[in-house]
Amino acid sequence: MIELDRILLTELLFFLFKTDFMKIVTIIGARPQFIKAATVSRMIRHDPHVKEILVHTGQHYDTNMSDIFFEELDIPHPDFNLEVGSGSHASQTARMLEGIEEILMQEKPDWTLVFGDTNSTLAGAVVAAKLNIPLAHVEAGLRSFNRRMPEEINRIVTDSISNLLFAPTPTAVTNLGNEGLSKITIFSGDVMFDSVLFYKEKITGNEEKYRVRDLPGKFLLATVHRAENTDDIENLKRLFLAFAGSGHAVVLPVHPRTRKIITGNITIPGNVILIDPVGYLQMLWLILNCEKVLTDSGGLQKEAYFLGKQCITLRTETEWVETLHDNWNTVTGTDPGKISDAIVLTAPTSPQKLLFGDGNAAAIIVGKLKSGL
Ligand code: UD1
Ligand code: UDP
Repeated sequence: MIELDRILLTELLFFLFKTDFMKIVTIIGARPQFIKAATVSRMIRHDPHVKEILVHTGQHYDTNMSDIFFEELDIPHPDFNLEVGSGSHASQTARMLEGIEEILMQEKPDWTLVFGDTNSTLAGAVVAAKLNIPLAHVEAGLRSFNRRMPEEINRIVTDSISNLLFAPTPTAVTNLGNEGLSKITIFSGDVMFDSVLFYKEKITGNEEKYRVRDLPGKFLLATVHRAENTDDIENLKRLFLAFAGSGHAVVLPVHPRTRKIITGNITIPGNVILIDPVGYLQMLWLILNCEKVLTDSGGLQKEAYFLGKQCITLRTETEWVETLHDNWNTVTGTDPGKISDAIVLTAPTSPQKLLFGDGNAAAIIVGKLKSGL
């Protein structure tokens, strides 16, 4: 009720004093984008001079891949849901392009805001750029230098057509400089660092509420969803071989993409506990309570680092090179030998480096959008 009153009041003020408002269309669609957008969206809602129109492309749609984050992270109900669902890169992106174009032509925002490196990011960016609507990219400048990754293509295209680039790390700033984009780059820090700081507080003292039930006292936490590890069944088999030989219980919240491929193709080792994808707060609980993290996720590598857990990156490279010092993060690919060596690596002796901003990335982003180009 209070939320409804707030929305009506904002709408009324917006109508009466149109010129005093800045309108942002935010485009999201996949799990990590809900988490990234949550902090920025909260900042916008507390600013009476900014109005946000939230567009969900529908790239992720299962309750535990989408709705759960809106409820848990208090993200407003999307103003539009394009419900594009799954498909090949081209067909999924094409459906997004059509839907987003209609919305941007209708809304005529001052800014279009996109996050990360998914197909939803790419579609939002391309439409805004073609309509000459100022485009800002949050989490700009990440590079794996591996163009076989669909995300790398999405990043390069999005950064190259944006008007404002919010870089999360010093390395991202350097990457953008190397591509001649320094003039439009702002070091904002990482919105996912903001998120961890904010939501970790919710878990403190509420352990019982967020604890994942029926798990052993000690476990490794693993996630796998990258195309290179799921579409290539041999890579997936190697990962399960490594989990089987880890000497630990391995808890694996399974991404739906991975679930489909595991089914019928992989024999699950006795020490591997498959669970459904969990909400963000339970995920933070899992990270805080595991021994180590094994993942091919970009977001999870950082969260492990922020929360003081060693990470093993199940890819051949990482964009988050700031996490690599002193064994905090080890890149192993899918080689069971390398994974097993990394599992027994000694704990880091030096603290994490504060290279992801100071937890105020969202405030910096909204402030800069308000001050204009
Ligand atoms: C996408 C992003 C990836 C990001 C990941 C986060 C692209 C190219 N990739 O990968 O960068 O790391 O999201 O999780 O945008 N599916 C469901 N239910 C859902 C969502 C997906 O069953 O709610 C299944 C479908 O079979 C679908 C498959 O998962 O075909 C892959 O989904 P998709 O969004 O295309 O790519 P992700 O692997 O999730
Ligand atoms: N995450 C989650 N529940 C899960 C798995 C992941 O809340 O079951 C969160 C995770 O903590 C991180 C984000 O989702 O904040 C990462 O998303 P994902 O691994 O899907 O994508 P990536 O970061 O690799 O693009």
